[in-house]
Amino acid sequence: MNRKWWKEAVVYQIYPKSFQDTDRDGIGDLAGIISRLDYLEMLGINTIWLCPINVSPMRDNGYDIADYYKIDPSFGTNEDLEELVEKASERGIRVLMDLVVNHCSDQHPWFQEAVKNPDSKYASYFIIKETDGEAPNNIRCYNAVSAWERIGDSNRFYFHSFAKEQPDLNWENPFLRREIIEMMKFWQQKGIAGFRIDAIGNIKKSKYALAQGMLPPDGDDGMVSVDKYVLMQDGIEEYLQELKEEVFDKYDMMTVAEVSVPEERMEQFIGENGLFSMVFDFSYTDMDIEKRNGKEWKRPWTIGELKKKIYDSQNSIQKHGWGSPYLENHDQPRSVNKYIPRDEISYESKTALGVLYFFLRGTPFIYQGQEIGMENYPFRDVKDLRDPFAVSRYQQSVDKGENPENDMEYFRERGRDNSRTPMQWDDSTYAGFSDVEPWINVNPDYVQINVKEELDKEISVYHFYQKMINLRKNPEYGETLTFGAFQAVETKEEALIGYRRTDDNYRITIWVNLSNKVAELPKSRAASMVILNNRTELEEDRLLPYQAIVEVEGGKE
Ligand code: NOJ
Repeated sequence: MNRKWWKEAVVYQIYPKSFQDTDRDGIGDLAGIISRLDYLEMLGINTIWLCPINVSPMRDNGYDIADYYKIDPSFGTNEDLEELVEKASERGIRVLMDLVVNHCSDQHPWFQEAVKNPDSKYASYFIIKETDGEAPNNIRCYNAVSAWERIGDSNRFYFHSFAKEQPDLNWENPFLRREIIEMMKFWQQKGIAGFRIDAIGNIKKSKYALAQGMLPPDGDDGMVSVDKYVLMQDGIEEYLQELKEEVFDKYDMMTVAEVSVPEERMEQFIGENGLFSMVFDFSYTDMDIEKRNGKEWKRPWTIGELKKKIYDSQNSIQKHGWGSPYLENHDQPRSVNKYIPRDEISYESKTALGVLYFFLRGTPFIYQGQEIGMENYPFRDVKDLRDPFAVSRYQQSVDKGENPENDMEYFRERGRDNSRTPMQWDDSTYAGFSDVEPWINVNPDYVQINVKEELDKEISVYHFYQKMINLRKNPEYGETLTFGAFQAVETKEEALIGYRRTDDNYRITIWVNLSNKVAELPKSRAASMVILNNRTELEEDRLLPYQAIVEVEGGKE
């Protein structure tokens, strides 16, 4: 077993725009994060992942970078970032940045130059095709429109996997790749310990994606999803290997890639000598949605399905490398609303959900606010939405004469803005996030759900997350919970989810009853309990609704 520092990390993801405002512009900033480091230290995490903070027109909240070397003024300065890194390090906390290099912003000087001057060297930093007037082909971007955008009134078109303000970079170009490598080194030298790597599976385009002429459509709109032609294409590994050799390995960085990897390529991506430390698995976080005509919609699912997906994911990752269990991030709604029926959301169900993922094999990620049990925002009006993808999808429905209320209903449950509302620190106006009106509404439930309340209460979601983190660090059991093997424990009851972490010293079993009914536990257990999520004492061989426990058997000689 290769012991890397990042295997013992507990990562806390920060969406800087919504974490803490200090300069009274309604937008969170780096000084705000610095001011909350004590809070994070007290929680027990040891790594922070910052969503993008580089200069950006914020068409996609920073996932559209216009200057790779500079911090966006709304967040602060490069010096602020250095201060954050230093102050975090004093508390034993490392900082990861978000690396957004599949695309940049259409405001980036490279793109501006490429548009203005077809002969400039920057034209080949992008994917630009000249045609006799029609888009080169019928590929549909993630925004459900053509992936090709005309440049002005010319016959030149550029390719974008995401919004048209996010032109894809041309990784075939060695000069572009060099620029990216140098930029990564720049941040490493500022003390950045690693990267969460955005949409990295998209960097290599197939020759069909770039060819002129219709491709077989996959929807009524006559278009075909970008996924088929730009995701995980053969040859992508050459580019990634270069990043690994020149940066990741050289500086012992933690890398977590946002990419779905099929089983047969797992070894290459996360194996002992893999391209990344770990990759995010979407199988159980996206199990509640399906795609139709380029749009995502809710789909029904069962606890049994969730259980199977978690087991399959863990078994597959364990064969090859290391996992990155998570429930939430800035693209997901709040997990309690996804996995727990509305009228069963409670302290018990929130913490049961925590236990479910927190002891899986891998580095656990906590998204800001998850540790206090934040919930979805009750979106009713399109005016309250800020996610440009949601706003443009709504508008597309209006334009096509379709009922946009269907989209609105989807956003209420599934929209990305649900997790982007301001962090709820206390019950003062704007929840202690800011003194002025924030860029996105505060969830009205902040009066009940906020950090102050959670800290004051003896029993709270926050304190429970603190306990779970401590258990992973416990001198007795931490080793098994971190490095031990994963083993699914099959049970008859659908809503009883069990798994084990084992090594030569201990056999630790995690039991979670993810339902509002009592669940029977196996009778002959000779284990002692180390964590119980709720107030009611454990009955010998059954779990009450949403009760969850961690039990230990064995002991060191
Ligand atoms: C994935 C990011 O998580 C998401 O927020 C963003 O919109 C896209 N990649 C495009 O960068």
